[in-house]
Parts: sequence; structure tokens; C-alpha cells
Amino acid sequence: MRLTILGGGGFRVPLVHRALLDDARRDAPGRVTELVLFDTDSMRARVIRSVLAAQAAGVPGAPSVRVADDLDDALRGTDFVFSAIRVGGTAGRVRDERIALDEGVLGQETVGAGGVLYGLRTIPVALDIAQRVAELAPDAWVINFTNPAGMVTEAMSAVLGDRVIGICDSPVGLVRRAARAAGADPERVEYDYVGLNHLGWLRRLTLDGRDLLPGLLGDGEALATFEEGKLFGAEWLRALEALPNEYLQYYYFRRETLRATSDAEHTRGEYLERQQGDFFSRAADAPERAYELWERARLEREETYGAASRAASGGWQRDSCDLEGGGYERVALALMRAVARDERTRLILNVRNMGTVPEIDREAIIETVCEVGAKGARPLPCDPLRADQLGLMFQLKAVERAVIEAAVSRDRDAALRALALHPLVDSPAVAARILQRAGA
Ligand code: G6P
Ligand code: MN
Repeated sequence: MRLTILGGGGFRVPLVHRALLDDARRDAPGRVTELVLFDTDSMRARVIRSVLAAQAAGVPGAPSVRVADDLDDALRGTDFVFSAIRVGGTAGRVRDERIALDEGVLGQETVGAGGVLYGLRTIPVALDIAQRVAELAPDAWVINFTNPAGMVTEAMSAVLGDRVIGICDSPVGLVRRAARAAGADPERVEYDYVGLNHLGWLRRLTLDGRDLLPGLLGDGEALATFEEGKLFGAEWLRALEALPNEYLQYYYFRRETLRATSDAEHTRGEYLERQQGDFFSRAADAPERAYELWERARLEREETYGAASRAASGGWQRDSCDLEGGGYERVALALMRAVARDERTRLILNVRNMGTVPEIDREAIIETVCEVGAKGARPLPCDPLRADQLGLMFQLKAVERAVIEAAVSRDRDAALRALALHPLVDSPAVAARILQRAGA
């Protein structure tokens, strides 16, 4: 089986490869035997290939690794595509975040004005990829990691239908953290989680048929033991009667998160630009040390994981067990294995709504609990949504669709609508200036 990674020079690619090596060691059925990397930055692809070569040393049956010359070469005849690109690179992320902050609104990679700018730049490229896949690998499954994952998956689904599935690590992380805080084994709980990407709520968490969530939301001590509990605080969580995705802090605590991000010395993008830039330039000069340098850079990055949230909430840090339990590569690999081997699994994924939330367009991509098997991902029925949850979902879906319209038809009015209608952009005049500065 062949897996193609677009954005193959990405820093997290060795984590995916590591999971593939575990399959090779166990000689797992239907495992990936060929890994094809493609990246528009060939230096980065070379560096990552050196990391993978060191990582695979001595592992019998490790997948072959090839760096493709171009997109078509990477896609032709492949079985699975992981699309994990960053259009505009980290420098683009820095600009998205800074331009927004300079105009006094939240600057974040996927949320608010930053996310809209990122979407405007990314969607044309994602659509081109979708069209090339449809032509060159019509039976392939595309697992989209590319952010802003909700709107990018929605744009690609117009071409690929249900063959594109969007993923994120934050919902499964929330479920695991909440289960542990409630004293339950994360592998045994069932749950109701629904929303859009980076905008969802955990509304039920059951063990043997008993809902643990009301007890957890009423237990200040237990809430103080994990990320979302600390971020949102016991009082607000009790009132909200649900556990929000960590990204909802930017909506519920607008002024605090805006202040924390604008007071911080650097944005997340600025930190990563330096940290990742250092890694790639050193590893390019010393390919024999690429693996060691990557390990060191990975540990450093993980220590600062969620730095924006940390700044906003005054000093928490993700536990190492959270990082082990979550991670994009885990979600992506679990999804790929379930599809390739028809192993029934439940995962929280970005898929077409198809009546799951009856108030929302059937074709709209939502993030919800799905049953996965050889036929792909099917959303499971969920409890009715509350008006406040629906309201935010409607508003953000309108923003996402305006971004897609703007990107497809190069329509500046649609871009202005996308930015100005975002709940975290408080003036169309500000939106217009942001568009102008971004050259969008
Ligand atoms: C989480 C989110 C991703 C996001 C990432 C940013 O994993 O779910 O969508 O891309 O954080 O991490 P970074 O280290 O790039 O700030
Ligand atoms: Mn995500």
C-alpha cells in the first residue's frame, strides 16, 4: 500500500513515519510499504528524508521512502494521501497573526482574522490538489490535516465528495483528558462531541451507560487537573453545561486571550519560525545529525505546546501523557488503518453533515463522532444542539463559505464579508485594512 504525504518536508512527518515503523515491526496486515513525500521546498524534503532514514535503520520491512519530483508524480496511483501543507510557510503564518494583532484583533493561526487570511491563501492550492487527486488517483482517500482544516476540507469535498476526510487532534485530546479527570479509562468511554473544526463541544461522556460529565463539571478539583478545565474555569463550565474545545477560549474569553496574545513578546508563528528555521538550516548542513537534531527540536516544541493558551491562562502545560495519547499522526493512522482493513472504529472527524445536525446544510463539513470502515466515515446521530452552539456554528460556517467563495472567484467583497462577519473581528473598517495589508 502506498501513502503519499503532501507537505512531506513537514516537521511532524517523522511522527507519522514512526507509527508506520510500528506497523512494519508487527508486520501488520495492509500496512504501508511505500511512502512518497512531496514538498515544494526540496531542502526540507531532503532533511526529513534524512531523519526518516536514520529512524528506519535496522527496522525490517520499513516502508521504502521516495521524494517525488512534482505533485502529479506524488499522486499518480497512490492509495492514501495525507495533505499537510502550509501555503506561504511559517512566514505566512507570522504575517497572518501579526497583521491581525496590529489591527487590534486576535492573531491566531486558525481562528479569527488570522484563520481567514490563511484560508484565503490555502484554498486555491487545496482545490488544485483535489482536482489532481480526482484525475490521477480517483480511488485514493485524502486525509486532510491542512489548516484551517474545516474550511479546507469543505472546499476539497466539492471535488472529492466523501473521499476527503478532515482531521484534528484536539477533540480526541479533550475526550481523553476529560475521561482521565473523571477517573475513567479513556479507551472505554463513549461520548457525544459535535461542532465545527476548532469550534466544538463535548456534551456527554459515558462509562457503562452512565454520564460522567455532570459530575466532572461540578468538581472544581477534578477540573483543575486538565487543560480545558483550567482554561475555562469551573464556574463557566458549570454554567455552560458542556466542555468546549480549547480553541473556544478565543470566543468565550475574547478580551483576555486578545490581551494575552498582544502582550506576548512573540506570536506562536514567530516562535516557530525561529525554532523550526534553526532546525532545518542546521540539519541541512549536517544530514548525518538530522535525526538527533530533529529529536531535540521536537522536545523543545512540545514543551511549549499550546503556548498561546498558556499565556492566556497563566502557566499550564500539557502533560506528557496528553501528547502521547493524541497527536495528528495517531488520528490519521487510526483512520487510515480502519479504512484500509475495514476495522470498525469511532473517531471524531470532519465530514459532511448529512442530517446529523438537521438545522445545518447537509453538505456542510462538521466535526463529529463517526463510525469508520472500508466505506469511509459515517457520522453518528448526536443529541440536539443548543441555540448558542448552533448560533456559533452558523456564523462560522457562513465565514468559511465566504472564504471559499472569495478564494474560488477571487471576489474581494466575499473576502471582506468573510473577515468582517467573523465574530472576532469587530469592525468592517478593520477588516478592510487587514485585507489591504495582507494584499488579499
Ligand atoms: C493543534 C491543532 C492544530 C494546530 C496545532 C498548532 O494540534 O489541533 O490544528 O495546527 O495545534 O501547533 P503549533 O505547534 O504549530 O502551534
Ligand atoms: Mn486542529
